[in-house]
Amino acid sequence: MILRLGIFISGQGSNMKNIIESIRNGNLNAKVEFVFSNNESAKGLEVAEEWGIKNICLPRFKFDNSDYKTSRDKYEEDLYQLIKDYDVDYICLAGFMHVLGEKFLSYYPKKIINIHPALLPSFRGANGIKDAFTSGIKIAGCTIHFIVPEVDSGEIIAQAAVTLENCNNPGELARKVLIAEHLSYLYALKKLSRENDNKLSELRDEAYKKWILLY
Ligand code: GRF
Repeated sequence: MILRLGIFISGQGSNMKNIIESIRNGNLNAKVEFVFSNNESAKGLEVAEEWGIKNICLPRFKFDNSDYKTSRDKYEEDLYQLIKDYDVDYICLAGFMHVLGEKFLSYYPKKIINIHPALLPSFRGANGIKDAFTSGIKIAGCTIHFIVPEVDSGEIIAQAAVTLENCNNPGELARKVLIAEHLSYLYALKKLSRENDNKLSELRDEAYKKWILLY
């Protein structure tokens, strides 16, 4: 089954880039219908543009006012109007720094997935890497999960674990986890596209060679 994807980013977009590259080199049976960003300086928008992928930006700050909920709802309604005509199987949040509200989520039931840089349900929230690093744990990682209104709480699709060995600060851990993120996003999408077990196990083996436990 070919997955039709929308990807939401806010920053460098390395997860987005990895998904697109995997499609291009025949390693993922999918098509990226559009890339969206809430941040006009997101590096990933330029990358999408260079690759000829439809990219859409709606800066969140233009909607800021004193009432957070009203401005967020208005923002997300405008966002929905911009993307509603794209027929997508899944929206992939990849470094998307905006908490989506219930109404927007209701437009895409069980169709929005996210990557979180920690092994959920541990270390929810915006500082997953820093919280994991300072907690004293020996194994960290990342989680791909469905989005529900409660932040970082939806059903888990895939997880990848890495050790904190040789990580002397949160930045070093973040770099290690990012490698796991790329593999696990791919793995989760393959699972969702009902890729056969051999392909999934090949990816698990590839991860294992990098000391990443992926499942
Ligand atoms: C990733 O660690 C992701 O988990 C976090 O943002 C980081 C950057 O992702 N939320 P990307 O390089 O923009 O894909």
